[in-house]
Amino acid sequence: MKFLTCFLLIASILVASTHALTLVQLTANYATGNGRVIQQKDSEFNSARFGYNHRYNRIPTVILQPYNTAAVQLALEYAQTNNLRVSIRSGGHSASALSALDDTVNIDLQYMKNKVFNAADMTITAQTGNKWVEMYEYTKDFGVGTPGGSCPSVGIGGLSLGGGANDLSTVFGHTVDNILELEVVLANRTVVVANAQENTDLYWALRGAGHGGFGIVTQIKYKAYNMRPTYYSNWIQYNWNDFEAVLKFVNEFSQTMPNTVNLYFTAWKSGAAATPSVALSCFSHLDPTNGAAAAQCAPFLTIPGVATPTAFPTTQSYYDTVRTGTDPKARRSFTKGSFLTEITKQTIRRIKMVMEDSPSSPYTYNTARLNLYWQGGEMLNRPRNYNAYVHRSHPWNAVWLSSYVTSTLEEEYHDWAKKADKKMSPYSSGEVYQNYPDDELDCWEDSYYAENYPRLRQIKTSYDPQNYFTGPQTIKSLNVYTY
Ligand SMILES: Cc1cc2nc3c(=O)[nH]c(=O)nc-3n(C[C@H](O)[C@H](O)[C@H](O)COP(=O)(O)OP(=O)(O)OC[C@H]3O[C@@H](n4cnc5c(N)ncnc54)[C@H](O)[C@@H]3O)c2cc1C
Ligand SMILES: *[C@@H]1O[C@H](CO)[C@@H](O)[C@H](O)[C@H]1NC(C)=O
Repeated sequence: MKFLTCFLLIASILVASTHALTLVQLTANYATGNGRVIQQKDSEFNSARFGYNHRYNRIPTVILQPYNTAAVQLALEYAQTNNLRVSIRSGGHSASALSALDDTVNIDLQYMKNKVFNAADMTITAQTGNKWVEMYEYTKDFGVGTPGGSCPSVGIGGLSLGGGANDLSTVFGHTVDNILELEVVLANRTVVVANAQENTDLYWALRGAGHGGFGIVTQIKYKAYNMRPTYYSNWIQYNWNDFEAVLKFVNEFSQTMPNTVNLYFTAWKSGAAATPSVALSCFSHLDPTNGAAAAQCAPFLTIPGVATPTAFPTTQSYYDTVRTGTDPKARRSFTKGSFLTEITKQTIRRIKMVMEDSPSSPYTYNTARLNLYWQGGEMLNRPRNYNAYVHRSHPWNAVWLSSYVTSTLEEEYHDWAKKADKKMSPYSSGEVYQNYPDDELDCWEDSYYAENYPRLRQIKTSYDPQNYFTGPQTIKSLNVYTY
């Protein structure tokens, strides 16, 4: 009986329309200044369908690049009246390439780049096709900013909808905590705004579970903050022999440091290197011109029992920090991770062992890496159900990343990432940051959303009852039978 219900529902969506919008009609409309159409036969198609992770080789039916919200509605009409599903792309940085799915109409928002700073109410309203480097380039001229991503090419769309954090977050909070309003094209093709007064449940869901299939977000309004013209940060590289002492010190220091410090700790092994490398990035929100900022990071330069590290201090605008960030050069990757519950002596020993056991390869860019992202201050200073972003309990987000240039070593780099993840499980909360999606998770619903998941299913049911927006890790409407 349940099977039958499901079949009828799907049938009712897929035989929805008698007036199909043809690709010719859509193309004619887009040609009047509303967007671009990239068909499979076009030379551009092959490069346009790939995002950050080239391990996935997905082939959409067609790629549509709308220039405005009405053109997004039209893209959705084209898909729905031709019995097709959609995949949605902003910056294309999804770790499991969820922004380009097989046999879908791929809606690529990269040309929707309007941005407006409003000084009167201190807000920035930006269309989702912007990248973070474009966002900060624009906002720096007004002396303002909002917490987002630290790499230039990451999209504001995907990052904002799943959490979002960079060096600004310990003081200003997660990106989701600074979203005041979103413009969304729903499954029935109507455009709505979601904020604290209107569509409040959708507003709650989109801030953390925004890639979960609630709609196509075309524009986001953020709270803006006055920024310093420049910030101090120090990139500090240690000897591998000191790994255990350094991580122990970093962890202990983090427990009592003020919110004005942000830390990013990383260990990696690239190419044929005999030993891994280890470094810490220490960022300060204090004044970089009077020594206050440097003083906050100074303890990391003289850790007791640790050889003098090599330090690369910089003082630059936050825009320059993001502009000079780079993507991994090896374009195929596996990402795994979880928030750590504690960093004990044993945790540290295991991390060291896992790093030393990582693959070696003749390709310089092949890299096995652990990132420990600090989540402190304002990032944790909210209840777990404040919005759909639940991960407010533990301060270290551990992300294991293996990236490699050719498929010949795929198995080694895959096995390593899986092993690293497993070895960490005694110290992991089991919660996984949804902005680093992993399609091998046993229960992504619980890992990404934990106790917020049941409410998300209810909200999905009211905004997309027929479960039109679907993908490997989208939230399911309660009207759809799952087992
Ligand atoms: C090199 C690199 C650096 C990173 N740095 C950071 C960082 O500093 N801080 C941080 O928090 N995270 C960081 N991340 C993770 C990042 O937050 C995610 O990869 C994020 O999903 C990227 O957004 P995007 O728009 O580029 O991705 P996309 O691949 O375009 O989208 C990601 C997901 O969101 C969906 N989606 C995209 N746009 C929309 C929309 N408008 N409406 C509805 N759904 C949409 C897609 O379908 C997909 O499922 C980084 C990732 C990489 C690869
Ligand atoms: C579209 O869906 C929303 C959310 O379910 C609903 O409130 C609205 O009435 C629908 N609009 C139309 C025109 O059907």
